[in-house]
Amino acid sequence: MKATTSTSAPPVHNAPLPSTSAAGRRIAPHSHIKGLGLNSDGFASTDSAGFVGQTNAREACGVVVDLIKSRKFSGRALLLVGAPGTGKTALALAVSHELGVKVPFCPMVGSEVYSTEVKKTEVLAEAFRRAIGLRIKETKEVYEGEVTELTPSEAENPLSGYGKTVSHVIVGLKSVKGTKQLRLDPSIYEAILKEKIVVGDVIYVEANTGAVKRVGRSDAYASSYDLESETYVSLPKGDVHKRKELVQDLTLGDLDSANARPQGGQDIMSVMGSLVRSGRTEVTDKLRREVNKVVKGYVDQGVAEVVPGVVFIDEVHMLDIECFTYLNALLESPMAPTVILATNRGQALVRGTTDIVSPHGIPVDLLDRCLIVKTDGYTREQVGRVVQVRANVEGLKLGEGVLDRMAAEGERGSLRYALQLLTPASILATLAGRSEIEVDDIAEMNELFLDAKTSAGLIAAGGGFDGGKMW
Ligand SMILES: Nc1ncnc2c1ncn2[C@@H]1O[C@H](COP(=O)(O)OP(=O)(O)O)[C@@H](O)[C@H]1O
Ligand SMILES: [Mg+2]
Repeated sequence: MKATTSTSAPPVHNAPLPSTSAAGRRIAPHSHIKGLGLNSDGFASTDSAGFVGQTNAREACGVVVDLIKSRKFSGRALLLVGAPGTGKTALALAVSHELGVKVPFCPMVGSEVYSTEVKKTEVLAEAFRRAIGLRIKETKEVYEGEVTELTPSEAENPLSGYGKTVSHVIVGLKSVKGTKQLRLDPSIYEAILKEKIVVGDVIYVEANTGAVKRVGRSDAYASSYDLESETYVSLPKGDVHKRKELVQDLTLGDLDSANARPQGGQDIMSVMGSLVRSGRTEVTDKLRREVNKVVKGYVDQGVAEVVPGVVFIDEVHMLDIECFTYLNALLESPMAPTVILATNRGQALVRGTTDIVSPHGIPVDLLDRCLIVKTDGYTREQVGRVVQVRANVEGLKLGEGVLDRMAAEGERGSLRYALQLLTPASILATLAGRSEIEVDDIAEMNELFLDAKTSAGLIAAGGGFDGGKMW
C-alpha cells in the first residue's frame, strides 16, 4: 500500500455507494425499459420504449395506467402471471415509469415480510403507507434571490482560544425588485456549505426555520454547453423578503416514521445515535391514526392533496395466508393505493396452509379482487431483438451471427439466460483483445456455464451428482 493511502480512514462496510455519474451509471437488469411504449390510442407498437413484443400484456397495463390516473383503480389489484423471464417485473416498472415520478411507487418482494423484528402485517401496512403520497402546499415567509455575496465572518473561539469559528455569515440576495443583505446564524452557514451554494445561485431561506434551499443557478451565468446537469432559473420576481408557496411531496410512511422516531438535531452525536438505534421499530396504530387525523385536517383546509400511488409485490406467492387475508383488509381501507402483484406459479399450495391448493398460490378470495394479466413466452426472433436492445444499453458490439446464436440460446434456455450471457461474453472478448463479441465467445460461455434446463437435465439423468447418491 502506498504511504498516501495508508493515512486515509479505513473503508466502512456500509459506506454509501459512490455517487452515480451519468457516465459510470450502473446498468440494472431493467434499465432499457423506459415505459410501456403505447401510442396515443393505447395500442402497443411492437418495439418501443425498450419493450419488445408482449403486446397484449402491455396494452392491458396501459388500461390500468389510465384507470390509476383517473383514480378509478384504488382498492383493486393487478396480478401479472407468466413463466419466469417473461417480463413481469419489467411490466410493473414500466407502469411506474408511465405514472411519472410524482406518483409514489413502492416495490417490494414477497419474502420481505419475514423479519424477526417486525410483524409480517406491519411490513405490508408500512409499504401501503409509503405508497400514499401527500402534496403539501404551504405559504411561507422566505428570503429569495440570487446570491451576490457570501462572506462568513470569523471570530476568536471563546471556548478554546485556538483557531477561529464562524460567528455569522453575511449573504447578499438580489431579486428583480431589490437587494437585501442578511446576517445569518453559523448553523445556516453549515447548511449553505452542505447545499454547495456559491455566488450566482438562486436560493431561498425560510424565515422561521432558517432552512436553506438551492433552487438552481441564475441564468445570467448560463453557459453555452448543450448538455449539462445544472438547472438554470431566472432572477426571482418581487421583493427579496416575501411570502412564497412551497410544494413538498412526501408519503404517509415518511410522516409515520418521522413521528415515531423524532430526530434530536443535526449534530454528530444525534446522527450517530440514530445509526446505532437503527433497528426497525414498529409504528403503532395509534400513531397512524394521529397522523391520519392531522393529514385529514390539512386536506380539509386545502393545504394538502392526497396522491394515491402504487405498491408492487413481486413473487407474491411467497406471502402466507395471514398476509393474504391482511392484504384483503388493506385493499378495502378507504385510503388504499393501487396494488400490482406478480407471480410465476401455477397451481400451488398457499404458504402457511397444508391443504389449500389454489391457482398462483393465492387464495381465491384475493384472486377474486384481481385483474389478471398473463405474459407470454418469446419467440426466437423476439429474444434476438431484446438481446440487441440490451447490447445497445450496455454499449456492447455484437459481431456477425452473434445475435442469431444468442436468440437460439434464449429459445433453448430462457430470455434471461440469453441476457445473462451478454456481459460475461463481453469480458471474454475483451480478454481476447477484441471490441466485438464473436460467436466463439458465446460457444465458450456455454462450455463454462449451464442454463437451467441443461443443469436440471444432468441431474435427472444420474439422479444426483455422485452416481445417484447425494449423501
Ligand atoms: N418484452 C420485453 N422487452 C424487453 N425486455 C424484456 C422483455 N421482457 C423481459 N425483458 C427483460 O428480460 C429480463 C427478465 O425479465 P423479468 O421482468 O425480470 O422477468 P420476470 O419478472 O417475469 O421473471 C429483464 O432484464 C427484462 O428487462
Ligand atoms: Mg420478476
